[in-house]
Amino acid sequence: MRVIVERDQEGVSRRAAQFIANLVRRRPTCVLGLATGGTPLGTYTELIRLHREENLDFSRVVTFNLDEYVGLSATHPQSYRHFMQRHFFDHINVDPRDTHVPDGRALDFEAYCEQYERMIADEGGIDLQLLGIGSDGHIAFNEPGSSLGSRTRLKTLTEETVRDNARFFGSEQEVPRLAITMGVGTILESRQCLLLAAGATKASAVRDTIEGPITAQVTASALQLHRDVIAILDEEAARLLERRDYYREVERSQAALQEGRLGKFGLAPS
Ligand code: PGA
Repeated sequence: MRVIVERDQEGVSRRAAQFIANLVRRRPTCVLGLATGGTPLGTYTELIRLHREENLDFSRVVTFNLDEYVGLSATHPQSYRHFMQRHFFDHINVDPRDTHVPDGRALDFEAYCEQYERMIADEGGIDLQLLGIGSDGHIAFNEPGSSLGSRTRLKTLTEETVRDNARFFGSEQEVPRLAITMGVGTILESRQCLLLAAGATKASAVRDTIEGPITAQVTASALQLHRDVIAILDEEAARLLERRDYYREVERSQAALQEGRLGKFGLAPS
């Protein structure tokens, strides 16, 4: 896993937006996997800026969101569909028909979840999946104990997640108890994952994810099995990582290679 540590949340957002913008420029028909929550908000703001000021073109991009609360309609102010419209889709030139957020009001959930998986496959799979991380180590709503091979399905939220998300609702009582979510297996099939984390409340989940054992008790740790994951963290979220100095050295080497400073590796042209 590549680990990038930025100074603060703003740095995390800018860096994540750069990776996404580079992909969209390189591959205008790419399929983006998107996430909701407080963490990716700044990334969306930066992408909107790039769209407005630097003509970043989303007109042929297809998107799939990770999850949605069960029982909330698309227009409910706390639904993830509403979040995406308000914070991203309404401000860029993506074709609304190409934005997919699971339908939290589907009645036949089993059939619907299969259909969601099929839609992703029909688009050729997800090129880049944006991910936040829960304080309990979840990715999407794959709560501790979720099968690491799981696919899109219904999931019961843990008390910890309900508490964490109560800040967006009036009270804990109003937080839905069920969500429809891509599975860990679904996420692992995307070609690249960007895992974002900021703030001290994420530090232990980040440590367990990156330096702990692979376990269904910390579903984000399954990302260790993926061949192309980039974790972008702020200083506080990275605070408990033991190998921080090594991750920084890797980034310095990467930068030197990219800039053609080969002398550092005994490769200076003669
Ligand atoms: P947050 O949520 O970005 O609002 O912290 C992350 C998550 O629960 O996956």
